[in-house]
Amino acid sequence: MPRTAYVNGRYLSHAKAAVHIEDRGYQFADGVYEVVPVHNGILVDESLHLDRLERSLGELRIAMPMRREALKLISREVMRRNHLSNGFLYLQITRGVAPRDHKFPVAAKPAVVMTVRQMKPASKEKLEAGVSVITVPDIRWARRDIKSVSLLPNCLAKQQAHEAGALEAWMVDGEGQVTEGTSTNAWIITQDNVLVTRNANQDILNGITRVALLERVAEEGVTFEERSFTVEEALSAKEAFITSSTNYVMPVTAIDGKAVGNGHPGLLTMKLREAYVSYIESAGAGRAKTAA
Ligand code: PDD
Repeated sequence: MPRTAYVNGRYLSHAKAAVHIEDRGYQFADGVYEVVPVHNGILVDESLHLDRLERSLGELRIAMPMRREALKLISREVMRRNHLSNGFLYLQITRGVAPRDHKFPVAAKPAVVMTVRQMKPASKEKLEAGVSVITVPDIRWARRDIKSVSLLPNCLAKQQAHEAGALEAWMVDGEGQVTEGTSTNAWIITQDNVLVTRNANQDILNGITRVALLERVAEEGVTFEERSFTVEEALSAKEAFITSSTNYVMPVTAIDGKAVGNGHPGLLTMKLREAYVSYIESAGAGRAKTAA
């Protein structure tokens, strides 16, 4: 089936969709994006994603290109035209097209692109095996809370992980503390069953899956601490996992080639994954939050 993309007011064949060569996203990575999971036809936690989008735009002083309601209508139309039931919506907004000059253009109009991609849920085999991560120095800028399209350090680290046979790279700051994965948040469960994930400030992206899972964690009565942890602490943890819009909750069973806990997905991790999946599948969750 031919895919359709939305580009600056038009629905185009995905194969032919393009932006101008002087789009500032292309020349300066001057833009932001969101990846919204689509589960059984529902945009999961759409409002939280749009809140984060508006915040990212605000931090970069890029205007919202249109009202939220219009963005929602377009996203549904892109989903409809692509018959999307499971996968994700990609939404990107850049400062727009202008002759190359570092300072902001006076009159550029923000450029909007939306695409969707079909994706199967994680296989039973993958969930039973868990995934491996490696650790790498975090060489990113100091505003990782902004979901900027400037992802070169993330791409370099993800490629390094791939070449090492791992799914993800956990990035480590100058103090030896894990910040997050290249496209996921990082979590551990200590030997005393305390769930730990880094506090959300400018050092990490505050994942929407992270936020939604912390709510479930509180409901489940699990003890948790929002604080940073070292690679050593992660290696001595009982369980570890990553979260993101495309992975939901994914067990980590090896770090730098060393087994986490008994080398199998942890029980609490899988319980939290189930709690998250039933949250997004419950009639209330996604739908209520996507209501205007
Ligand atoms: N990545 N940290 C980073 C650096 C990320 O890029 C992402 C998301 C996350 C998790 O955020 P969320 O739970 O809102 O997906 C954490 C998306 C999926 C991506 O770039 O493809």
